[in-house]
Amino acid sequence: MKKKNIVLLGSTGSIGKSTLEVVAMHPDRFNVLALSAYSNSQLLAEQYRKFQPDFLHISDSNKFEELKNELSSSKVEIFTEEEELIRLAALSEADIIINAIVGSAGLLASLEAVKNGKLLALANKESLVTGGPLFPELIKRHKSKILPIDSEHSAIWQALASGKKTEIRRLLLTASGGPFRELPKEEFEKITLKQALNHPTWNMGNKITIDSATLANKALEIMEAVILFDIPVEKIKVVVHPESIIHSMVEYVDSSVIAQLSKPDMKLPISYALFWPDRVESSYGAIDLAETGKLTFENPDLQKFKALKLGLEAAGVGGTAPAIFNAANEIAVDAFLNEAISFTEIADTIDSCLQKIVVVSRPSLDNILETDYKTRELAENLVGNLV
Ligand SMILES: NC(=O)c1ccc[n+]([C@@H]2O[C@H](COP(=O)([O-])OP(=O)(O)OC[C@H]3O[C@@H](n4cnc5c(N)ncnc54)[C@H](OP(=O)(O)O)[C@@H]3O)[C@@H](O)[C@H]2O)c1
Repeated sequence: MKKKNIVLLGSTGSIGKSTLEVVAMHPDRFNVLALSAYSNSQLLAEQYRKFQPDFLHISDSNKFEELKNELSSSKVEIFTEEEELIRLAALSEADIIINAIVGSAGLLASLEAVKNGKLLALANKESLVTGGPLFPELIKRHKSKILPIDSEHSAIWQALASGKKTEIRRLLLTASGGPFRELPKEEFEKITLKQALNHPTWNMGNKITIDSATLANKALEIMEAVILFDIPVEKIKVVVHPESIIHSMVEYVDSSVIAQLSKPDMKLPISYALFWPDRVESSYGAIDLAETGKLTFENPDLQKFKALKLGLEAAGVGGTAPAIFNAANEIAVDAFLNEAISFTEIADTIDSCLQKIVVVSRPSLDNILETDYKTRELAENLVGNLV
């Protein structure tokens, strides 16, 4: 069987490392062409030694020389310019591009992969949220395909094999509810960074862990699902499921609900995307239902989780509203991670940006990039004034 040539952007992060664990289990099936990181040159060098890619990219120019010196005796090509990162997403030898960068910094690479007719295995939900309106037309024109890595979207993708698009009644997007599901609203003001970084069921990068605590992550996933599955936001319902065993469901018009179940382990959806259209033998997330016991469900509390409410509204507005939501959230989460603002001020920052930045309903890429820039500028001012 011919090996798949893979490009993995964001290889030093949580999804990136899990992807390389899957790849390492199947040396006969994958060949790593390129890896990238923002600044973690140490880990990128280690990954180079193990997987021997032809190309490395490191965004932080201060770490570029360090990495070059460290690998001076090897024949790898190392880049730091942003255009080179984007070029890696279009390498002609690549069979599949995995985008595991965090934040809208992944947008241009996702667009480039799609424009070059690639299979794009996408963890970077922010690129679909920010550039959402651009993707459907490009995918059609360039005959590319997006394979979701997000566990909820992977579950929906798998459940969609059970019926026709016209037979879908609703997508049921599950949410663990995060660490503050049972905390009274009055106590949200006092939430600390340490508490917010302690997710009950998933072990992930810092940004998505905070997004999961505010439920902004679920809002981003709704926006992602609208684009990926070409489905209106009214047909997407969030169901809180604290055990994180059912990763999402599709309800069909005959009232049948088809679900995908496993223990929380991102290596399962990663593997599904990497091997698609096949399934391979593995035990990631294997589950004993009797041992698991009860599965419970409840509605999300939109009063407590203001970011989810704002996200639902922004998804309904469409155009650049999701891009505003995303950029404001990225700046606010960064400020919260630096302990510059409080937990509740994350949603307040998103709210102010959504109120103040004008939405473009059918945006070009330039409109999107400008909106992203203006929102970040406003959000930086807002969080700066809160300090
Ligand atoms: N973690 C999960 O379980 C999970 C589940 C579902 C979806 N996702 C999605 O997957 C994406 C990655 O999440 P993660 O948890 O793996 O994040 P993470 O652990 O923070 O890793 C992010 C990766 O992107 C690189 N990076 C950061 N900023 C960058 C920039 N401006 N330009 C280029 N590269 C940059 C990082 O490099 P350095 O290491 O050098 O900083 C790292 O390799 C996110 O969109 C997230 O929402 C994650």
